[in-house]
Amino acid sequence: MPIHILAIESSCDDTSASVISDGKIVSNVVANQKIHSQYGGVVPEVASRKHQINIIPTVSEALRQAGIEKKDLNAIAVTKGPGLMGSLLVGVTFAKTLSLALHIPLIEINHMHAHVMALLIEEPRPNFPFLCLTVSGGHTQIAIIHSEFNMEVIGKTIDDAAGEAFDKTGKLLDLPYPAGPAIDRLAGSGKPVFNFPKPVIKGLDFSFSGLKTSILYFLQKQLKEDPDFIKNNLENICSSVQTRIVDILIHKLVKAARQTGIREIGIAGGVSANSGLRKAIKETGIKHQWNTYIPKFDYCTDNAAMIARTALFKYERGFFADLEITPEPRMKI
Ligand code: KG4
Ligand code: ZN
Repeated sequence: MPIHILAIESSCDDTSASVISDGKIVSNVVANQKIHSQYGGVVPEVASRKHQINIIPTVSEALRQAGIEKKDLNAIAVTKGPGLMGSLLVGVTFAKTLSLALHIPLIEINHMHAHVMALLIEEPRPNFPFLCLTVSGGHTQIAIIHSEFNMEVIGKTIDDAAGEAFDKTGKLLDLPYPAGPAIDRLAGSGKPVFNFPKPVIKGLDFSFSGLKTSILYFLQKQLKEDPDFIKNNLENICSSVQTRIVDILIHKLVKAARQTGIREIGIAGGVSANSGLRKAIKETGIKHQWNTYIPKFDYCTDNAAMIARTALFKYERGFFADLEITPEPRMKI
């Protein structure tokens, strides 16, 4: 009998629902919350209210696209953390209620674990052990993935995340939130003519706050001389910033691969949708003879398909949660 699992993701500002059926993702519906772009960042209270509005239509659409009825579900999975408390509460409460009503097991999922498991949704899949650089709006880390449930973090950011570096730069450039996709697009028609400093951080840890400050000072200086500097140089600024961020990420990944001797290398998380990073990892992989893996675009930014894939691994092992669970906004890997 094929196993059907419904998965729900509501950790930040996107409401998503997905069905995995017989090991395949058969639906992955994402309701974006455009409203935050006008505030320059996610407003938690607004996000949770939007989740409350979006969750039933999103789940219904995911079931419809999958051609699965609620009574056919074997389990329900949900992101328990990390994320925003109010946002997580909507998904967790919904999933607990459905689990109780349908008499099916509940599966709790760590969002960061799921970003990595996105690499295992489709072929080609990395072989264990592999290295994963997970880059999102809140996290930047390199981990050795020994197996589905054994991940060893060997490097992480000591301040801002890579996604934050994109988003905060976007704010300085007056781009709507989240700025990563816009910077990516603009960088495509620019050149990296401005040279931003490279942080010197020991080991495999990252730092992005110095870069943010140097971009701020650079812009302030240029704007004094030419008030239209940003307007006239937007593509080149974006290209320069993106090139530096990608460079910082790739530098540590090369170091991690050398230290561990691992040549199976993947990237995951929202920033892995970045075309500069996707190109750079492929090129670096060829140079260093790595096998590189990048999730399909839809499985990079927040989505419930990655929650569903992780949930199936847990289902197969009988790793179920009880109905007393509550969200864990600062959940660790
Ligand atoms: O994984 P994700 O969707 O949510 C979190 O778990 O945080 O990542 C969101 C982050 C945001 O900072 C967004 O600007 C960034 O991913 N992002 C990108 C791109 N698409 C999304 N950054 C650079 N280039 C992109 N194409
Ligand atoms: Zn995420």
